[in-house]
Amino acid sequence: MSQQPSPANRQQQLKQEVARAALTYIEDDMILGVGTGSTVNCLIELLPRVRLRGAVASSQVTQDKLEALGIEVMDLNFVGELDLYIDGADEVNPNLQLIKGGGGALTREKIVAAASKEFICLVDESKWVTTLGREFPVPIEVLPQARSYVARELARMGGEPVYREGFVTDYGNVILDTYDLDVQRASEMEARLNNIVGVVCNGIFAANQADKLLIAKETGIETLLR
Ligand code: A5P
Repeated sequence: MSQQPSPANRQQQLKQEVARAALTYIEDDMILGVGTGSTVNCLIELLPRVRLRGAVASSQVTQDKLEALGIEVMDLNFVGELDLYIDGADEVNPNLQLIKGGGGALTREKIVAAASKEFICLVDESKWVTTLGREFPVPIEVLPQARSYVARELARMGGEPVYREGFVTDYGNVILDTYDLDVQRASEMEARLNNIVGVVCNGIFAANQADKLLIAKETGIETLLR
């Protein structure tokens, strides 16, 4: 009798399937923007199959993984606009707006997404939501000195910020994971959060939403365009 995989193993299989599907969008000689997280890690393992010219990494963790595979990691300042950025997400809504930053790499991820012509987002179906921010908090990267000021401002907006203890971003900043923000108008909330002094970046990707979503479901890979 064949055994069903555990839910965690099945989710890992879905991540591998969506990573395999993403390979078809990567062309030889490309400089690829590479995201961060367990889904993108599945893609990174497959990248030696493609002859990339190089990659731009969205975090130190990703940079280390790429270099370990012998892929040249380039400085975004020297490569100009990228053709393609591929990354995961913590939540995605039907407008292909996202919450990202569960792994704490949101700022560099947003920079690389903004500098790319196309952003393909890879998720398994557990990430699909009708409204952003109801379950997953919005990660907000904050200058360490501004932490309590920003937390008070977030509370005034109806949010409940939780300091991510013991975590420092690649840029030496801290993260406030913020519950209960009203993210129904994602673009407005993204801009409002950016306006708080001391906020470096927030995990709402509305201005830099995905252009294409590959979603791994039990029934197969579905592709959605914005
Ligand atoms: C990293 O900071 C995040 O934005 C990730 O892209 C996001 O958390 C998705 O990660 P998983 O693929 O591990 O779920």
